Amino acid sequence: MAVDLLLGLQWGDEGKGKIVDVLTKNYDIIARFQGGPNAGHTLEFDGIKHVLRTIPSGIFHDKSINVIGNGVVIDPVVFVKELEGLDQFNIDYKKKLIISRKAHVILPTHRLLDAASEASKGKAKIGSTLKGIGPTYMDKTGRNGIRIGDLELNDWKEKYRSLADKHEAMIEFHNVDIQYDLQELETEFFEAVETLKTLQFIDSEEYLYKAQQEGKTILAEGAQGSLLDIDFGTYPFVTSSNTTAAGACTGLGVAPNKIKEVFGIFKAYTTRVGSGPFPTELFDEVGAEMAKIGHEFGAVTGRPRRCGWLDLVALKYACQVNGVTQLMMMKGDVLSGFETIKVCTSYKYKGEEITHLPYNIDPENLTPVYSEYKGWSEDLTKMTAKEELPKNLLDYVHFIEKETGIPIKIVSVGPDRKQTILR
Ligand code: IMP
Repeated sequence: MAVDLLLGLQWGDEGKGKIVDVLTKNYDIIARFQGGPNAGHTLEFDGIKHVLRTIPSGIFHDKSINVIGNGVVIDPVVFVKELEGLDQFNIDYKKKLIISRKAHVILPTHRLLDAASEASKGKAKIGSTLKGIGPTYMDKTGRNGIRIGDLELNDWKEKYRSLADKHEAMIEFHNVDIQYDLQELETEFFEAVETLKTLQFIDSEEYLYKAQQEGKTILAEGAQGSLLDIDFGTYPFVTSSNTTAAGACTGLGVAPNKIKEVFGIFKAYTTRVGSGPFPTELFDEVGAEMAKIGHEFGAVTGRPRRCGWLDLVALKYACQVNGVTQLMMMKGDVLSGFETIKVCTSYKYKGEEITHLPYNIDPENLTPVYSEYKGWSEDLTKMTAKEELPKNLLDYVHFIEKETGIPIKIVSVGPDRKQTILR
């Protein structure tokens, strides 16, 4: 059986958690393939709102098994808090949640190193979530990392000590004022590791291979967004993993020719948290209104998100890099009431008009060129059928479909599971 893939096409926060939750009933296995607790996947159902960080969004469905793949980085402390948050839902996570032995562990000193590195960058800071993601992936590629499978070995604490000591020297090298009590952080960390060890650790690539052989259905769940991809995003203002489709192959051990549908999630407008270029960013009341209506605050850091119009040039780029086969448009309801909807269809770049995402999208090089659409005033949040969607919204949807050449299969009109219109 083939593997389907779901990922964000912008700078994260597109609403992937909600869609995985909606689609989960069609899959036996939901597998996260990259990122870590920098993600905050928000799910709303039955009047409950819940944010997941490392745990796949299928955890709330009775049948599905949730796999944390080798491409993910796990902070035991955050992870255990996440498990505690699930207790109220009576979820048997010892059965439903399994972790790749090859996933890497975020140490307390990785978090400190993240903070020290950002502080030392001054104005050039990336705006990291400071969850230790970058330093952990650096240790992975530097071949120094500690993996989940290491926690089963007797000597892992020796390896831990020498790595943490090295990190402390690196923190000192940054020469910034970071206050911490490592002993306290380590006590919490070692306790969390013991809880983590009560879960199932597996050779996940083998597990997923066998699952495919047995005809099980698998959905790979991406985190962050394509424009935060370490290779294809707005480097250096990106995260440290491959958030694009290729990341599912390396982060789960799934062969490229086994991937079938690629679901691309995007917001009807654009948001970004943290630093970095954002061509269609709005600095006026319209942007402030989007932020207010869309509750655009980071699920992990609480930071306000920057808002702007839909950037079709960037969206098409993300569709290309990922091989998207179906689009899903989120938060259409937020745009209700805007008289005019703008969408960026090309850029003025160094005196020329271009329709691709160039190497450098800094504002001094590039100005967005917009097409305008008539807005809609109807409240979409109570709508349940595609026939109810207003004509002006459908014009907008058809335009995006025509430009990308990809059908928009879901229009989401609110945060709840039920507020999902299938087309
Ligand atoms: P890091 O992944 O924490 O190092 O952060 C790097 C950049 O990616 C920062 O601009 C973050 O704000 C952004 N980022 C990381 N994770 C997410 C996410 O899940 N949603 C949106 N932005 C994110």
